[in-house]
Amino acid sequence: MTQMEIAKGAEEQYLLAGMSNRHGLVAGATGTGKTVTLQVMAEALSSIGVPVFAADVKGDLSGISQPGKSSPKFDDRVKSLGLGDWSFSGAPVVFWDVFGKEGHPVRATVSEMGPLLMSRILNLNDTQTGVLTLVFKIADDNGLLLLDMKDLQAMLLHVSEHAKEYQTTYGNISAASIGAIQRGLVSLVQQGGDQFFGEPALNIEDLLQTDSSGKGVVNILAADKLLQSPQLYATFLLWLMSELFEKLPEVGDPETPKLVFFFDEAHLLFNDLPPVLQSRIEQVVRLIRSKGVGVFFVTQNPIDVPDTVLGQLGNRVQHALRAFSPKDQKAVKSAAQTFRANPKLNVEEVITQMGVGEALVSFLDEKGIPGVVERAMILPPHSQIGPITDDQRAAIIKSSVVAGVYETPVDRESAYEKLKGKVEASTASATPAAGGAGAGTVEQGSGWLEEAGSVLTNVLGSGGSRRGDTPMQAMVKSAARTVGSTVGRQIVRGVLGSLLGGRR
Ligand SMILES: Nc1ncnc2c1ncn2[C@@H]1O[C@H](COP(=O)(O)OP(=O)(O)OP(=O)(O)O)[C@@H](O)[C@H]1O
Ligand SMILES: [Mg+2]
Repeated sequence: MTQMEIAKGAEEQYLLAGMSNRHGLVAGATGTGKTVTLQVMAEALSSIGVPVFAADVKGDLSGISQPGKSSPKFDDRVKSLGLGDWSFSGAPVVFWDVFGKEGHPVRATVSEMGPLLMSRILNLNDTQTGVLTLVFKIADDNGLLLLDMKDLQAMLLHVSEHAKEYQTTYGNISAASIGAIQRGLVSLVQQGGDQFFGEPALNIEDLLQTDSSGKGVVNILAADKLLQSPQLYATFLLWLMSELFEKLPEVGDPETPKLVFFFDEAHLLFNDLPPVLQSRIEQVVRLIRSKGVGVFFVTQNPIDVPDTVLGQLGNRVQHALRAFSPKDQKAVKSAAQTFRANPKLNVEEVITQMGVGEALVSFLDEKGIPGVVERAMILPPHSQIGPITDDQRAAIIKSSVVAGVYETPVDRESAYEKLKGKVEASTASATPAAGGAGAGTVEQGSGWLEEAGSVLTNVLGSGGSRRGDTPMQAMVKSAARTVGSTVGRQIVRGVLGSLLGGRR
């Protein structure tokens, strides 16, 4: 089994490639070295050809794209660990950003997100969630596509205006619930969250790239601004995990994982989580392993993660914890108890005493059994510690393999345009030549369809969006995926929906 050296104590500590899909945990108080540990793991995975996805909460993970530099402190660490000549190199990086500034824009359609996750983003209660689910269903039944915020807003307005008519078929749709959803959407738009919804939507395949020398691409999501909307941040990453689960083929336990996903500030995922979503997360984490995807949670304290999820995280790196308050002390105790005991080590005591970049480490062995916990120093990274400059970032974005694929939003005919068309048709009855929103597509038919046809053939043949796609091509590809992913799941979409056993 390919092994990656991550830390060194009395012995070298190796993360095994074949066990990286058995998930992991990196925990520790502020400033104890979690981000650098993530960086060391990510660059090790990249170097053996495994693509990585990581959220960059403070902008400091971006340094992974540049070769590191020696400094007296750094050289001391290399020397004291007996690492010999240390080579410096950066990893191939693709930057992503929900707001489209610090990286390529990453989008999903409203319908891909589905009512359950949408409710989570909007902080809806059960009744309101029920109404939102009905709104999705009505859109489905009427062939109205929900792609962006405009579509959802138009759909809500439409449903509230026709609540009486829909009542017989769909049940009671309360005006108060609609109002609450609308207010939720307004505040999401104010936070800039509306930019996330629309097309071209992210093609998961684009995250699974390797560069020309066979290194896995490190996908970095700029999350500093996104974290100001913790609900959107957490739900987005949950959605991404479910998409990966749903779109990737079953591979069992591969020799090297398809992708390793680092979920920083993981406590945000579990804060006030409705029980139904928590059990779905458990399931996604459990099942995604056989798709060859490893999930590593990064958080201050292991107790941030529910036991049922924690129990599935086989590879552990525990940095120092503070034990000031009784609550801290309790956390230290329970963190210590999660390790396979080492008779030579008083884990509970050591946890509070370790220095920066030092940790209690236990990785899974070839049989999938947790190694005896060891106190060890995390190796230094080969890449730069700390953030890169804006110019460096801009240069990487410009030369990326997906440059140009996602930059231009596409606004095709969907619920908003259709509903607007309906209203216009019923109010201003005449003026057919104006080319209203509803008519456009059919008129432009032949050219549009021809291009669509040829692109579709390509899509079906090869999969991902490619650099140099025209916005048109990118849109058609995105549309093809939306259609593909809409088939067969009517009410509650996505893996979360299908796991819910949604009424099909
Ligand atoms: N393995 C390491 N090798 C060399 N230096 C390290 C290592 N780990 C940590 N450091 C040093 O410690 C600093 C703090 O580490 P890091 O940023 O990883 O902490 P953190 O736990 O992510 O903190 P926060 O919770 O604030 O994000 C780094 O900037 C680096 O200088
Ligand atoms: Mg950090």
